[in-house]
Parts: sequence; structure tokens; C-alpha cells
Amino acid sequence: MFELYVNGKQYKVDADEKTPLLWVIREHIGLTGTKFGCGKGICGACSVLLEGNPVRSCITPVSSAHKKRITTIEGIPSSHPIKRAWIELEVPQCGYCQPGQIVEAYALLKRNPRASTEEIVSVMSSHLCRCGTYGRILKAVQRAQKLMGVKS
Ligand code: FES
Ligand code: FES
Repeated sequence: MFELYVNGKQYKVDADEKTPLLWVIREHIGLTGTKFGCGKGICGACSVLLEGNPVRSCITPVSSAHKKRITTIEGIPSSHPIKRAWIELEVPQCGYCQPGQIVEAYALLKRNPRASTEEIVSVMSSHLCRCGTYGRILKAVQRAQKLMGVKS
């Protein structure tokens, strides 16, 4: 039995210790915003925060999340500048990669609200988007920095 704290709520989950956190979040807990892409830690679609740090939940065993804090896309408030900027700039196309992108961008701005263009591009380029929304993603992160009042 594993104990997880997801978006501020406690869950007790009966799963094999090697079960990827992604499937626990989606199937045991029922939060389906986090997506399955490659299943190999490459695309970033399954990103969530574990104790505030982005992890690829498809290759993170549930055992490593025991008694830890997890934030999923559902746990980021819609009033947060990152989500507001995403909506304002109409970033998504098909939308599939976007929860992972938003979670990563949210963590980046928490870590370094004044991240430079180079840093944003470098961090966000670890996420694949088959629709090629990279330009809008960069603009949205920079728009969120303005909404947060950290850049003019
Ligand atoms: S589904 Fe996890 S990195 Fe692609
Ligand atoms: S918006 Fe379609 S994969 Fe990124």
C-alpha cells in the first residue's frame, strides 16, 4: 500500500511497487490530465511534479512517490499566470502534449521566475510537440513572466 499526496489530497493506493506513477495517477486516482506518450521518458507528456521537481511519471515507479507530494496539471490553479498566458496565446493545437508542457513551465518559473529566453528554450525543448507549438510555448512562458510582474 502506498500513500500519495496528490494536489494536496491524500490517497492510499494498492499497486505493485514497480507500477509507473502515471498509471496510478490516471487509473487508481482518476486524474486523466497527465498523458501517456512514449512510455520511455523521452517526450514529456506524462510530466508531473514530485516534491516540486518535474519527473516523467511513465518511468517513475509508484514506490518512489510513497509519502511524497505530487502536483499534476489539475493541481495548477486556472488563475495561475502560466495557465492564463497559455489560454490568452492559444498555445495548444491538438493539446496532447500540453499538460506536460504546462507542468514543466510552471516548475521552471517557480525555480527561476526571471528565466532568460535561452533557459526557457533549453528547458522546454526536452518536451516534444508533434504539432510544433514551440514558438507559442516560448511566448506564453514570457507572457506569464509579465503577468507575474517579474519581466516588463
Ligand atoms: S510518456 Fe513519459 S516521457 Fe513520454
Ligand atoms: S499540441 Fe499537439 S502534440 Fe503538442
